[in-house]
Amino acid sequence: MTPMRARAMVLLGAALLATGPPAEAQAPGDVARGRAIFEQKQCARCHQPGGQAGLGPALEEVRRPQGGLELAGRIWNHAPVMFALLRQQGLDWPQIGAAEMADLMAYLRADPARDPAPDLQQGQVLLIRKGCLKCHRLRGEGGSVGIEFTRYHGGYQSPVAWATTIWNHSSRMAGHSARMGVLYPRFTGDEMVNLFGFLKGSAEVSPR
Ligand code: HEC
Ligand code: HEC
Repeated sequence: MTPMRARAMVLLGAALLATGPPAEAQAPGDVARGRAIFEQKQCARCHQPGGQAGLGPALEEVRRPQGGLELAGRIWNHAPVMFALLRQQGLDWPQIGAAEMADLMAYLRADPARDPAPDLQQGQVLLIRKGCLKCHRLRGEGGSVGIEFTRYHGGYQSPVAWATTIWNHSSRMAGHSARMGVLYPRFTGDEMVNLFGFLKGSAEVSPR
């Protein structure tokens, strides 16, 4: 690399650091710690190399190159079945903190840089189509079981924070949706990317 080019890259890096919101700064996950967490949190019970009948999809299916928000969507989908399986076995829903989620993501080869840019209009449509407003409110419109999205900031900070929120939310929601008769929605493709982009944007525009 020429010195000029090297300097340009350093400058570019500095510019990216300067413009990125400080909240995005997240300690990078650690693969070895992530592997240990995968065992501790019971994931390895159901996701084994090569897979096993009666359990979850094979480890190779869960651990593959993917976006960070894409993984959040897959984690969302998996709640009802895992909820039922854990109950059968008399196990509690494992709580996962943000630092642990960062490590898990590194181990599962989820990289937020692989997520595409969000389509915000699609995100708005999804908020309604996925039934979030049956329990939640956006600018006062919607249900009253869950939070008002525009006043919430915690999980919007980064894909890791969002995946953590989703993980800890999904068991609570699985219970509520059964009681309320709300169909538990599934996410495919870029849907979680678009929904996250829209929610994050609406909180920043109108933090009330
Ligand atoms: C009690 C068994 C069980 C445990 C424990 C478990 N899972 Fe799963 N997992 C499943 C099942 C079953 C599915 C398939 C669910 C479906 O497709 O509806 C699944 C699916 C998934 C998927 C999505 C795969 C896909 O097809 O998109 C991911 C990612 C995943 N699990 C990650 C995890 C992680 C991370 C943990 C630990 C924190 C974990 N799982 C713990 C049973 C389990
Ligand atoms: C069946 C009801 C129900 C539906 C549908 C629902 N949620 Fe929730 N949600 C809840 C409940 C209950 C809470 C917990 C509120 C609390 O912590 O007191 C919650 C909390 C949350 C939180 C805050 C979590 C935290 O860290 O405290 C977020 C973010 C969220 N939901 C997002 C969503 C999204 C996105 C959708 C749609 C894809 C959705 N919810 C659909 C019931 C629901």
